[in-house]
Amino acid sequence: MSAFFERFFGDFLQSREYQEITLSNPLDMHLHLRQGAMLESVLPFSARDFALGVVMPNLNPPIMTTALALQYRDEIVRLSKGLDFVPFMTLYLHENLDKGELTHAYAQGIRILKLYPRGATTGSENGVREVVSERILEILHVAQDLGFMLSIHGESNGYCMDREFEFLEVYEFLARTFPRLKIIIEHVSDRRSLESLERYENLYATITLHHILLSLDDVLGNLMHPDLFCKPMIKTPKDRDSLLACALSAHPKVSFGSDSAPHLQSKKYSASAPGGIFSAPIALSMLASVFAYHNKLENLQAFVSDNAYKNYELDSVLGDTHKVIKFCAQSWEIPQSIACENSAISVLFGGKQCVFGRISK
Ligand code: NCD
Ligand code: ZN
Repeated sequence: MSAFFERFFGDFLQSREYQEITLSNPLDMHLHLRQGAMLESVLPFSARDFALGVVMPNLNPPIMTTALALQYRDEIVRLSKGLDFVPFMTLYLHENLDKGELTHAYAQGIRILKLYPRGATTGSENGVREVVSERILEILHVAQDLGFMLSIHGESNGYCMDREFEFLEVYEFLARTFPRLKIIIEHVSDRRSLESLERYENLYATITLHHILLSLDDVLGNLMHPDLFCKPMIKTPKDRDSLLACALSAHPKVSFGSDSAPHLQSKKYSASAPGGIFSAPIALSMLASVFAYHNKLENLQAFVSDNAYKNYELDSVLGDTHKVIKFCAQSWEIPQSIACENSAISVLFGGKQCVFGRISK
């Protein structure tokens, strides 16, 4: 583990004076909740800390119709009853979406289309074959007119460390072609993507906790850690530091999206490990710790709530939801894993101390 982590989890922990942090309506703008038993195991962590989560549609089968999205939403609402959590649903973009289905989805409160290039990540087998194709551009035209936002897992099929960079030309082409469509570069991992945000008014981004704290060295510089393997791949220390600076400054076009993506250890520790990092149990406390460590607590509310509120126009979605989460400097040990089915799901930074603890209501 790097010197940064030794200090972060070491001296810093001891040096904190009593300090209280209050966050209002924290929002997780990129979240995988899965289905069945796994949904039941992971949902409480997000629903407890966040007022809203943008729920990704890469289930098996994927959420490709409004009916499936509404059914999934109802299930999440039922399972998070009493926790004051709004699941903000997304619809899986595919070649057969038509105007009727899109109009219906919009009328039912679905505001985000999620585009996966086919084969780019977990659950993208039904994704889009060719993004810049007549059919997809037609769909995006309708989506723009209806007022949808477009969330993209932007990776080419080139060399893994360059995939996001190679995809930037597609983001920029779409941003130019659909100037009224808000496009989100999901889980930015490459510092060069941040430059695209400045070039196009309608490009936005989400940033995860793991991409601002880790580099490829942490994943496989010494022993190999499958629990830290995710898509897009965690990149160089320079990328990490640029993303961290961007998050700490609460860049107005960027919001927090954990990309918490649970997988069972039985799969993660096999010969073909799927990408995905499960961070939901620690996401908010760790963000508080990171912002405190860098003396940027004043920007945390914007990064974890206000920016998204504005950019995704969440007034009517959140209505009178007013979730207040308080933290204080009170260290707690992060659990190694949570139980699920006949296996377990590893928690990011399991076994380490988290500086800020939630003050329970
Ligand atoms: C995600 C998953 O497991 O669903 N995996 C990941 O590595 N982030 C999918 C995704 O967002 O790419
Ligand atoms: Zn994701």
